[in-house]
Amino acid sequence: MVDALGVAVVGFGWMGRVHTQAYARVAHHFPGLPLRPELVTVAEEVPGRAEEAAAQFGFASTTRDWRDVAADPRVGAVSITAPNFLHREIGVAMAEAGKHIWIEKPVGLTAQDARAVADAVTQAGVQGAVGFNYRNAPAVEAARELIASGGIGKVTHARVRLFSDYAAHPEGALTWRYERERGGSGVLGDLASHGADLARFLLGDIASLTADTAVFLPERARPAGATAGHSRASGGELGAVENEDYVSCLLRFTSGARGVLEACRVSVGEQNNYGFEVHGTEGAVFWDFRRMNELGVSRGTGYQDQPVSTVYVGPGDGEFGAFQPGAANAMGYDDLKVIEAYRFLRSVAEGVPYGATVADAVRSATVLDAMVRSAEDRTWVTVDASA
Ligand SMILES: NC(=O)c1ccc[n+]([C@@H]2O[C@H](COP(=O)([O-])OP(=O)(O)OC[C@H]3O[C@@H](n4cnc5c(N)ncnc54)[C@H](O)[C@@H]3O)[C@@H](O)[C@H]2O)c1
Repeated sequence: MVDALGVAVVGFGWMGRVHTQAYARVAHHFPGLPLRPELVTVAEEVPGRAEEAAAQFGFASTTRDWRDVAADPRVGAVSITAPNFLHREIGVAMAEAGKHIWIEKPVGLTAQDARAVADAVTQAGVQGAVGFNYRNAPAVEAARELIASGGIGKVTHARVRLFSDYAAHPEGALTWRYERERGGSGVLGDLASHGADLARFLLGDIASLTADTAVFLPERARPAGATAGHSRASGGELGAVENEDYVSCLLRFTSGARGVLEACRVSVGEQNNYGFEVHGTEGAVFWDFRRMNELGVSRGTGYQDQPVSTVYVGPGDGEFGAFQPGAANAMGYDDLKVIEAYRFLRSVAEGVPYGATVADAVRSATVLDAMVRSAEDRTWVTVDASA
């Protein structure tokens, strides 16, 4: 028996569209899901954008005010895909209204914001899924299993990198992303939040760290009108970039392993160069988002000159089998969001969390807060283990 679940999307920019497409596709890939999402309403403040979304995807209604969504009895679950400064207010309000939430990272501007949302979710007894999509990649899940099973020996060190050129163009508009008040941190919240989650997902909690940050493009032009994603603006009045373009960070994991996390949003020549290398006493595992369905694996007891093999993930790895019948048929970025939608809806159906939750967002945000403090004080900082 398949029940209908009314869903809403708040903020119809890039992520609003991707969540909506995931709701539309989820039953195609996961026919056993006992809940069928129905697109009830979309809230968007830019005039006309919600109406366009309704026309294209079939939302039954639209609104300019997200509070209408909280009050709407047809809505059982809400995707919160608005800018970071709205995550806390909207996340708490939706949970308090009894709506399950699928909220985008980083969940607010600080760990305090993420914790407020996590607390509201717990108190309301609803599900709270978070958009840490990279951990949904079947190859990343396979790497995690390999590491956890001792397949590369005892983990010694790891490197997590997230390099992008999305903000490298000098005419990249001064959107909410570059403002403290609406974006919070810069590349920390945007990319390093994913990196902190991946590091934890693969290697466990981070005990302490030391970080350095930099702004490389200090001014950008104010956009003339509404923006979505990474819009361009030229000729407009220049304003200050208020948050960091770059972070490098040394990590100490509670396991004793060491790590390096580096992220940059203005890396010319780098398009989504996201990935990791994890080393152990008997092997290593490598992943690159741009070759999302492959792992580099070295294992054995050769130690020196030990070969590295390319492994294509297949139907036995993660949720690969829901998308492709055999290894080396490519999955893409949007498929990771379909997996996220599936895990979120399954959580709602069964009342048990599957996949990344707001508690994971609190942990990631706590690591980011520690990076901010470390960069300010130029010291090693202990990551709050109680978060
Ligand atoms: N998981 C990922 O890989 C990933 C990728 C990109 C962005 N994100 C996250 O998703 C969120 C949105 O990012 P984006 O790239 O889609 O941004 P975006 O600017 O493309 O979209 C945000 C949308 O929210 C709308 N909005 C702003 N204020 C609103 C309000 N009060 N009510 C309703 N709508 C409002 C904007 O008009 C815009 O359409 C951010 O938190 C970001 O960190 C996650």
